[in-house]
Amino acid sequence: MRRKLAAGNWKMNGTGHDLSELAALARAHPDPACDILICPPATLLHRAGETTADTAIAIGAQECHAEESGAHTGDISAQMILDAGARHVILGHSERRQNHGESDEDVRAKARTAMSAGLTTIICVGETLAERDAANTLDIIGGQLSGSVPDTATGENLVIAYEPIWAIGTGRVPDPAQIGEVHGFIRSRLERRFGAGVGRSVRLLYGGSVKPDNAADIFAVPDVDGALVGGASLKAADFSPIITALEASG
Ligand code: PGA
Repeated sequence: MRRKLAAGNWKMNGTGHDLSELAALARAHPDPACDILICPPATLLHRAGETTADTAIAIGAQECHAEESGAHTGDISAQMILDAGARHVILGHSERRQNHGESDEDVRAKARTAMSAGLTTIICVGETLAERDAANTLDIIGGQLSGSVPDTATGENLVIAYEPIWAIGTGRVPDPAQIGEVHGFIRSRLERRFGAGVGRSVRLLYGGSVKPDNAADIFAVPDVDGALVGGASLKAADFSPIITALEASG
């Protein structure tokens, strides 16, 4: 049985002032029926961990380097993330792939390092609108999966987030059949590569314009085990009803 996961990606948003949103979220969900994760910017990891200590909210990073240490100005390592108190990391987000030229190979190397350090990795995949219009969605997702997910993946250290690039921050959301098709495809690919046991235990999140008013419909789709939420994770008042919808999805 996969435990559902509501994950928030704050992206480049949030300063110390916004930790009050985390505290409010923790108060609203003292004993949730799903996992709750917030990935604030790196500057807030440690304080976010302190704010959520002894609560049901876990903290994750948005990125980490493939090497353990070294001359990489501005980067952070898996050990630094762990040292800051976080246990999760998002990797291969489309904004990293696009803005920083990260390839599947880069994502795979980062994931391998993060997994061996003991972090749970949320690896993002997703197609552009042009790729969907050209009926290439499953080919693209299949290629990203085989290229980005390392052989060391397990049901504990891997989460996959399906995030169509055209749905991120746009208010546009695929219809349930489109989400179901991709999630079913990802599940079958994972089962084929890692065997049924591991393949069935990896959680699959949908991401891209998840909001309080569309969350229940998305969570009703088979093989959707939760969401990776950007804009609507910044305020407890927005993220809380999404968590409640996920809990209610059973
Ligand atoms: P959004 O972002 O919810 O603001 O569309 C999702 C994401 O990029 O993870």
